[in-house]
Amino acid sequence: MAEKIAVLLSGRGSNFLAIARNIQSGIVTGCAIDVVLSNKSDAPGLIAARDMGIATAVFRQKDYADKGACEQAMVTLLRERGVQWIVLAGYMRILGADFIDAFAGRILNIHPSLLPAFIGLDAQKQALDYGVKVAGCTVHFVTNELDGGPILLQKVVPVLDDDDEASLCARILEQEHIAYSEALELVVHGKVYVDGRRVRRR
Ligand code: GRF
Repeated sequence: MAEKIAVLLSGRGSNFLAIARNIQSGIVTGCAIDVVLSNKSDAPGLIAARDMGIATAVFRQKDYADKGACEQAMVTLLRERGVQWIVLAGYMRILGADFIDAFAGRILNIHPSLLPAFIGLDAQKQALDYGVKVAGCTVHFVTNELDGGPILLQKVVPVLDDDDEASLCARILEQEHIAYSEALELVVHGKVYVDGRRVRRR
């Protein structure tokens, strides 16, 4: 049976759409997007999910006593639905330890840099400002360390002399859309395991 995925997003949702497309076309197998969650009711990615007939839910911290209560409500919904994998795709909230523990080893994130370089916000601008000659994206397991979990896979792109933030972001994003689906295919089929910091093929 297809493993159930929840996508958490806050914005545009191009990674979500790429994954949805790749599941639809059979490039990613063995899983289905069960629900899309957002902290923003007007996130374009959330609206796109709804238009596609995928279940959606909005969890805004201000509607709960605190961040912990909000994330507990998310966990409850995800458990009720039997969700097995959490895919963070431009989710602009740092998840608390209780949420991460509830899905230990089953939360993935994509970050637009070659980690461990340039963690946090505006990674592509950080890369340009630093002057690196290659950049890229990283799909990693989520732990309590920001952008610091074991790395599933990375894609490299060149940084060109005339790049600005927009052109570099676009080149990296193209690879993100490939990388996230490849990573999902690996985890859903149990093709990898975590050994300390290393993610190894079985
Ligand atoms: C991507 O660049 C991703 O790496 C970062 O947030 C952005 C989300 O883009 N975590 P989108 O909403 O998937 O288009």
